Amino acid sequence: MSILITGGTGYIGSHCAVELLKNNFEVVLLDNLSNSTEAVCKHLYKICGKKPNFYRGNINNEEVLDYIFKCFDIKAVIHCAGLKAVGESVLKPIEYHENNVEGTKSLLSVMQKHDVYKLIFSSSASVYGNPEYHPIDEMHPLNPLNPYASSKVKIEEILKKLSIENSKWKILSLRYFNPIGAHDSYLLGDDPTGQPNNLFPFIMKVAMGEREELEIFGNDYNTPDGTGIRDYIHIMDLVDGHISSMLYLEKMEASLNYENINLGAGRGYSVLEVLDSFETVNNLKIPYRFTERREGDVDNSYANISKAKVKLDWMPKRTIEDMCTSAWSFQKKKILV
Ligand code: NAD
Ligand code: UFG
Repeated sequence: MSILITGGTGYIGSHCAVELLKNNFEVVLLDNLSNSTEAVCKHLYKICGKKPNFYRGNINNEEVLDYIFKCFDIKAVIHCAGLKAVGESVLKPIEYHENNVEGTKSLLSVMQKHDVYKLIFSSSASVYGNPEYHPIDEMHPLNPLNPYASSKVKIEEILKKLSIENSKWKILSLRYFNPIGAHDSYLLGDDPTGQPNNLFPFIMKVAMGEREELEIFGNDYNTPDGTGIRDYIHIMDLVDGHISSMLYLEKMEASLNYENINLGAGRGYSVLEVLDSFETVNNLKIPYRFTERREGDVDNSYANISKAKVKLDWMPKRTIEDMCTSAWSFQKKKILV
């Protein structure tokens, strides 16, 4: 039996693939390589001694999907494929809708055609918008502030509706907070192909000398040191959350066939705290300067992870220091490989 990972050569998909391959699942990766490269498959082989089945293709293309479902006995889908740059989504809202929402609809329709009803969807903490309280639990109102976040809300709505209409579906929407860090082999990590958007890829660029300094977006937020607070979670803790989710899908009560679950570490760090930790554990200096706030950023966002702990029997284990060490180790190794 196989697991299909859409967006399988991307950051989160590839890290999920490594654990599934290690646990003897047959893994099929589908990716259009808009934000990753096929080199990931080579690294997966180096780490696991097993090759994933890789298809370059688009989730909007039902023919490609149909072919994959015909060739493999797919048991479940981990659906990571999506465009994820918040700023770009404001400039290209239609593209984000087409890619993320319409692409998901194609996937669902082909899954249904092939009687595959187990799905783990990569949702996002961005669905909550500006938090009304902390820590943010799954009951928090949804308030998407940009087309990217709206695409996640729309997909969640579709998934929920589908699960009500047809009780065969077993679906989890995992609302990720801020995954960072890399696999212990340091052969896989966060390696976007285009312009980076997130804090860690920018810290890496400064650490590598490719940029002179880190721009810290705002120091007048309503936080103790004025910089934005986020809930950073080690990528391998996030992956463990997916493995636990796969097990949970198997035993989900008959009456329950759709759930939203937060995956974060359950505590927040400010940009300055993260930077301090990164510099300390890696013995590096990262020059920075404060700039204007980035549009759409919130002061503070961290998760209540009680639901994941109870339902998935899952606990994040790695510290912020582990995250900072592994992110830099991956970056250094990347130059050598
Ligand atoms: P990523 O960009 O590294 O991976 C996504 C992959 O999907 C890429 O390899 C890209 O080439 C592929 N892709 C995009 N559109 C596609 C399409 N139409 N057909 C086939 N492949 C397509 O991003 P990631 O960090 O691994 O994120 C995975 C998912 O998790 C995304 O849906 C993202 O929105 C969500 N998410 C990520 C974060 C984060 O901070 N990384 C936080 C919350 C949610
Ligand atoms: N930041 C900087 N400088 C940078 C980049 C980021 O100061 O160069 C700050 C941001 O202002 C924010 C923090 O670092 O305070 C984290 O920013 P990221 O861009 O790394 O992450 P976001 O929280 O903005 O968004 C990420 C993903 C979204 C996802 C969200 C879920 O990009 O896709 O986490 O919490 F939805």
